[in-house]
Amino acid sequence: MNNKLWYKDAVFYQISLRAFKDSNGDGHGDLRGLTEKLDYIQNLDVDCIWIMPIYPSPLRDDGYDIADYYDVSDEYGKLDDLKALVTAAHARDIRIIMDLVLNHTSDQHLWFQKSRADKNSAYRDYYVWSDTDKKYEGVRIIFGDIEKSNWAWDEKTQQYYWHRFFSSQPDLNFDNPVVQDEMLNVVRFWLTLGIDGFRVDAPTYLFEREGTNCESLPETHTYLKRIRHLIDSEFPEAIMLAESNQWPKELSQYFSSGDEFHMAFHFPLMPRIFLSLAQNNPAPIIEILKDTPKIPENCQWAIFLRNHDELSLEMVTDEERELMWREFAPEPQMILNLGIRRRLAPILNNKRSKIELINSLLFTLPGSPIIYYGDEIGMGDNLNLPDRNGVRTPMQWNTSPNAGFTNGTPFTEMVKGDYDFQHVNAETQLANPDSLFHALHRMIHIRKEHHAFGRGTIRFIESNDPGILAYAREYGEEKILVVHNFGDAAKSFILPAEYQGEYINLLSDEMQNIQSLNLNPYSYHWMKLHGK
Ligand code: NOJ
Repeated sequence: MNNKLWYKDAVFYQISLRAFKDSNGDGHGDLRGLTEKLDYIQNLDVDCIWIMPIYPSPLRDDGYDIADYYDVSDEYGKLDDLKALVTAAHARDIRIIMDLVLNHTSDQHLWFQKSRADKNSAYRDYYVWSDTDKKYEGVRIIFGDIEKSNWAWDEKTQQYYWHRFFSSQPDLNFDNPVVQDEMLNVVRFWLTLGIDGFRVDAPTYLFEREGTNCESLPETHTYLKRIRHLIDSEFPEAIMLAESNQWPKELSQYFSSGDEFHMAFHFPLMPRIFLSLAQNNPAPIIEILKDTPKIPENCQWAIFLRNHDELSLEMVTDEERELMWREFAPEPQMILNLGIRRRLAPILNNKRSKIELINSLLFTLPGSPIIYYGDEIGMGDNLNLPDRNGVRTPMQWNTSPNAGFTNGTPFTEMVKGDYDFQHVNAETQLANPDSLFHALHRMIHIRKEHHAFGRGTIRFIESNDPGILAYAREYGEEKILVVHNFGDAAKSFILPAEYQGEYINLLSDEMQNIQSLNLNPYSYHWMKLHGK
């Protein structure tokens, strides 16, 4: 196996470092805490950890507002702690990627401080300034619940600056070649330190041009390719993963001809997985995947169910959004911007069969899966916390005070009620072979023994019932049949003649000759063709 393509078979695990494990009792998760917990992550059979931003930051956007690209925030430890983490992870064959926030800095970054101090500063041009807020009119406002414009007025120098996110996150000016080079240096710095790549935050918005929606512009792609070129020539096993909330056709441009991003989140697929569950009908999944262009051999989709943001419903129709809000966000406080600020288990009313079904999709649809920390044990959220913080609460390790997360006072209120750490924690689940953790671990383990999941083709199989989703994943000689029942009633699935034959049930290890399958409500079946 070519190691350069490791990400095509990998299972990823996303972590909020602040919320994962505190090693020194200050109430904040830190690098040493994560290092202590690598065994847990290895137990889950994860290949790569994605650590959310750990740079020094005033935390107006939980670290996506960076004040210094060349350090880690004190609360997480020192650069040496990061090096130690990387060494310990690599010793376990686990890679580590970090967030790379290219589009904007914090307004506390020295570059912006200097830029805003004086119109004649050498740093003025690091950001996008304008005399008028009428430029780039009509460009959508992403944090629409809070920001009313993409321009913010600067009193001192009497100009507006451009920001696609919070006004505390001024956009860098990528038309400035010095900025372009600065960010290449940042990339080189972290890869030299041993980091295995980046989840690139908001690469869509690097350039602005009048008369466009200022998204995915050709200039943006040209620059992103420069980063890729640096990576290919100096760090050939490192990867770039694109966070771009776009339709499949625009998204696939981020792969270009295999010389831009290695991976991109399949944003439109994610809400369609939930929509299919809400409608007991998987048609939206089939449609979006049929609409998804083939991507170059060395590229891969990243698929996910939840992450640290709201479950984004930008990519569905108004009607579908209303339906999903009714089904998955029945209380107004569960809604944020155009999405749902809840964790996976509560969204699915903690119904175990649905949680397993949706994870079965995560691990068998084309792409590499990303698990959001805590979802492997069915953690809940805390809606009392503002913005997206309710899904970024401390990892629940055990039943000791503060869930074993810290000996001090946690940086935030923990989850309460049915999902508190007495009810949901890693230690209890590890000890129970029937737990969600073990069910997911089993899926991951099987997935890792079969390249068809990460590399194979997908062919949808017609079924006798619209509530059934059946597909074949094929890679070389390997042929795996995956069947899901999206309904709350039992069904029987009659296999088309060409698919009938002898299978190994990968989840039970039994050999079965199959003409038809009995499907319990919300059940999933992974069958490997053995012979005809
Ligand atoms: C996308 C990140 O996922 C989100 O958390 C952040 O607020 C924005 N980018 C801005 O960096």
